[in-house]
Formats: sequence, structure tokens, C-alpha cells
Amino acid sequence: MPPTNKQVTLAARPSGMPKEPDFKLVETPAPQPGPGEILVRVLYVSVDPYMRGRMNDVKSYAPPVQIGEVIGGGAVGKVIASQSPQFIAGDFVEGMFGWQQYAISNGKGVRKLDPSLAPVSTALGILGMPGLTAYFGLLDIGKPRAGETVVVSGAAGAVGSIAGQIAKIKGCRVVGIAGSDQKVAWLCDELGFDAAFNYKTTPDYAARLEELCPNGVDVYFDNVGGAITDAVFRHINVGARIVVCGQIAQYNAEKPETGPRLLGHLIVKQARAEGFLIFQFASRYAEGLKQMADWLKQGKLKYREQFVDGIENAPRAFIGMLQGENTGKQLVRVADQQS
Ligand SMILES: NC(=O)c1ccc[n+]([C@@H]2O[C@H](COP(=O)([O-])OP(=O)(O)OC[C@H]3O[C@@H](n4cnc5c(N)ncnc54)[C@H](OP(=O)(O)O)[C@@H]3O)[C@@H](O)[C@H]2O)c1
Repeated sequence: MPPTNKQVTLAARPSGMPKEPDFKLVETPAPQPGPGEILVRVLYVSVDPYMRGRMNDVKSYAPPVQIGEVIGGGAVGKVIASQSPQFIAGDFVEGMFGWQQYAISNGKGVRKLDPSLAPVSTALGILGMPGLTAYFGLLDIGKPRAGETVVVSGAAGAVGSIAGQIAKIKGCRVVGIAGSDQKVAWLCDELGFDAAFNYKTTPDYAARLEELCPNGVDVYFDNVGGAITDAVFRHINVGARIVVCGQIAQYNAEKPETGPRLLGHLIVKQARAEGFLIFQFASRYAEGLKQMADWLKQGKLKYREQFVDGIENAPRAFIGMLQGENTGKQLVRVADQQS
């Protein structure tokens, strides 16, 4: 049995961009499973943009993390002791185990993984919540048709990189927006995007979109909001679908931003903007995961994972992700898979 459990807790509510002192590393006695429970050694921890919202003391779809509480979040681990009939020691599992080395679970919401299908870390990326978000957001909300133009913001991240590839599978022209030249090259040279641009070095987003989307924009998969989204709205076509997936440009805002009022475009273009939460598709996760695994096996989808080592470095990985240091899915490697 492990002697102690290193955990990362919330030390202070961040103001603006989180800082490392907003988090605290604590060591507690390792937990023991009770009847019906499993003990999980955490292997990989996910850092996700939604966690930033949970660090604020405001009501949302998930309750806020309390000061002193372990940061919650998706993780992949290995069962090392089981008092549950559903699991045995050695099972690889994915669940909301949080930023810690060891977790106890009653098995609710825990998914058993097949390590022969793909590396188990993909259960936090392409074969997990981000992949499902791209799949259902693009296909069910965006409803792309072959020949249409799809623009993806946050295009080189976990969700965006997959949404763009699915749009290519569906026969669309795909244009990505991302924050570095290396990301732009990855999208175009490796993932098959038709075009992309670096918003950090592009002075006029609307002019660049006009060049790259000569037939206008039919589907906009929005991960970021803000000025990028303002520019895309100016190019939407009649009947466009705007998939409001995320608004990361605003997650660290200290006061609400005002910007161009965009709803008039929806009238003139008879367009639809629709927000969604991945949980609304929970009854169809199996369908999404099967299709994504098939595309992965057929070589139609590619993915990239980026690792930071050690649970104590989870805050750094999280802050780095918010600042765009990741290409593809950002993960924290907590322990060796063979351990
Ligand atoms: N609706 C849902 O159910 C759901 C589920 C999962 C995720 N999401 C949302 O989907 C979006 C992407 O999530 P993810 O997990 O795939 O994260 P991610 O894209 O892997 O990482 C976040 C990325 O956001 C970009 N970014 C940060 N600040 C920005 C800004 N001010 N303007 C433009 N881009 C900025 C950075 O890339 P650059 O280098 O390009 O700036 C960074 O790499 C987030 O908004 C998230 O909240 C929604």
C-alpha cells in the first residue's frame, strides 16, 4: 500500500490568469478502499480550460472548488486494490480522480479502458471528453455538409484539432486559427487543414479570413470567443451554424468584456448560434467513442499529446495550457504505467 498521497489543492481563488501560489501541494496519508470501493494509482491527469471557471466562487453547471480542496478533474489510472465486484487490480480506468497520486472511487462514472485499443492516456484526449466534444459539437450542432467551409478557432488544441479533422473527413474546406506558426504548420502539414493562420501575428483577422474563406463561412466551431469570433461573424453565410463550444479568451477576464454586438448577423444571415455542454450527449458517448476509435484505426484522425511530469507540476501545466503552450492535448504524467 502506498504510504502517502501527494495532492494539489486550491490555495487561493485566482484573479485573472492563475499563478502557481494559487495552488498548494499537500501530502496526506494514502487512502484505503472500503467495501464496494477501488483504490486507483493515478497515471495521467488532465488539465482543461473549464477548470478555470470552477476556481471562481460563482454558480455554474459544476460547483466551485473550495479553498483547500483537491482540484477535481479527469484522470487515467490503474486499479491497485479493489473491493468492488466490477473491477480487479490491474484494470486501467478513467474517471474524475482529480489532481492527486491516489484516489478512492465507488466506481460511479468510472470507465474501464482497453489498453490494446490505444495508449490509455488517449482516454483524456481523442478517445475521451475532448474528442467527444469535437465529435458531437461539430456533427450534431454544426451539421457540416461536404463542400462547405468550416472555421475552427483554438484549432491546435485538444478539441479544435479533432473538430477540424472530422470536418475534413466530412468533405469540408477547413480553416484553422491558432496562436503560433508551429501550430499553423502542424494543422496544415500534418492534420490536413486547408489553411490556417496565426492570430498573434495577424493584424486584421477579418481581412485574413476573407482571403482564406473566399466562399464565406458555413460552420464556425468556436473555442475562444473575443475578437477572433467577432471577425468570423462578419463572414458567415446565409444558413451558417455557429457552434459555441468554448470562450477561453474570456476565462481569465477580470471584468466582463464588451465588444461588437453580433446578433444582427444572425438575422441578416438567418444563421444559428448554439451553445452546448458535452454532458448533454452522455447517452451517446459509446457511439462517439466507437466512431472515433474506428477513424483512429483507419488513420483518418491524428492526435498529439504533450506531457509535463509530476503531480507537483500540474499547476504549471494548467497555466501553460491557458497560455497556449500546448499543441494537442496537455496532460500531466503522474506515475509510470508499469508501476
Ligand atoms: N462545451 C463543452 O462541453 C466543452 C468541452 C470541452 C472543452 N470545451 C472548450 O473548448 C475549448 C478548447 O478546450 P481544450 O480542452 O481543447 O483546450 P486546448 O485548446 O487544448 O487548450 C487551450 C488553448 O486555448 C488557446 N487560447 C488561450 N487563450 C486564448 C485567447 N485569449 N484567444 C485565443 N485562444 C486562446 C491556446 O492556444 P493558442 O496558442 O491557439 O492561443 C491554448 O492552447 C475551451 O474553450 C474549452 O472550454 C468545451
